Amino acid sequence: MQVSNLAQNLHGSEIIKIAGEINELKKKGEQIANLTIGDFDSAIFPIPDKLQQLIIKAYEAHQTNYPPADGVLDLRESVSAFLKSRFGLEYNAQEILISGGSRPLIYAIYLALVNEGEKVVFPSPSWNNNHYCDLLKAEAVIVPTQPENNFMPTADDLRPHVKGAALLSLCSPLNPTGTMFSKEDLEAICDLVIEENKSRSKSEKPLYILYDQIYSQLTFGDHEHFNPVSLRPQLRDYVVFVDGSSKCFAATGVRVGWGFGPAPIINYMKAIVGHMGAWSPKPEQVAMAKFLKEDEAVGSYLTTFKQNIQKSLETLYHGFISLKEKGFAVDAITPMGAIYLTLQIDYSGKTTPAGQVLQTSTDINFYLIKEAQVALVPFSAFGADDDVNWFRASLGASTVAEIEAILPRIEAALARLV
Ligand SMILES: Cc1ncc(COP(=O)(O)O)c(C=O)c1O
Repeated sequence: MQVSNLAQNLHGSEIIKIAGEINELKKKGEQIANLTIGDFDSAIFPIPDKLQQLIIKAYEAHQTNYPPADGVLDLRESVSAFLKSRFGLEYNAQEILISGGSRPLIYAIYLALVNEGEKVVFPSPSWNNNHYCDLLKAEAVIVPTQPENNFMPTADDLRPHVKGAALLSLCSPLNPTGTMFSKEDLEAICDLVIEENKSRSKSEKPLYILYDQIYSQLTFGDHEHFNPVSLRPQLRDYVVFVDGSSKCFAATGVRVGWGFGPAPIINYMKAIVGHMGAWSPKPEQVAMAKFLKEDEAVGSYLTTFKQNIQKSLETLYHGFISLKEKGFAVDAITPMGAIYLTLQIDYSGKTTPAGQVLQTSTDINFYLIKEAQVALVPFSAFGADDDVNWFRASLGASTVAEIEAILPRIEAALARLV
């Protein structure tokens, strides 16, 4: 069938290929622990009770017509107060845009700031930037990161690539790693952007930062979330934030995202989101506006939710560290935020009992799916090379008991490799 060049050139998702393999095995009656999806099982992690009641009430009150193009004013005001109380950030209702989850905001930022052929710089591994570059025909400048930096980009990694770039896309806590920027590292990147923008003339488009902080409420222990505008207020005109309710309230299907940044950019994004019709449903907006004002309900939900996610992440983390101590070629990075754990399974070149030599991280993953009934996502699905033997485990859809049961299966499967 003849379709557009853009449609023909879109890349499929590697995670969907893994899902296909899992479904085949499930049809044969196998129970696979699915640690692939960046989502929650709502039986384990439901949305806040209060939020659910408010959504039902909004439908009962017939809040079912078109919302305003930039979002219900009451919600933008609630988000403004939330940003002030959580991060000390000052953004008024005109500098905030509501959309149907956060994805439309990311696409709108790209469309508002990047021309065809312009450079977009982003680290690998990272989430979905490659697809947005494809949609825009932008030049993707993929900057590999290192395990010793927790797979976060440093100013030194980025420095050779920012000259003339249109956009630097950053995320912290990061999907897929669950790691975060330290204050010093983010400050150094901010200074790099300030320096680059000083070198451009007034008539040139500056280098903008897309700062995705959708996991910023989900941080653990002493790990503190930082953002470019609080660290370097002079960057305020150059940073557009992506944020929302999907992850912090386990509300991925509720679809309320919020972006914020300089009013003129937010205005262009509003037009773009409007043309896509990618608004957030009005009853959910009305409900979220009220819920965000309920400091106590928000606080107590986040406390319990974070404790449970952290327990799951730490169970898997300690399990991997004890495998490492037993001499297995595995490793894990301390969980810092989000719902992800970064695992190393360094078994390329090893032979399975069936005689297959595992060459790539994809081979290792499929071996574990079949032999340990556990599915992870290799970093190659997030832009890293296929010989990078690091993986994402997503823990929003498993109980601690399920995670504990996975560990002996992984140990047995790895012990069979020679
Ligand atoms: C880093 C990051 N940003 C944004 C999103 C999109 O969230 P939403 O479901 O609100 O569209 C995701 C979802 O997985 C994500 O991981």
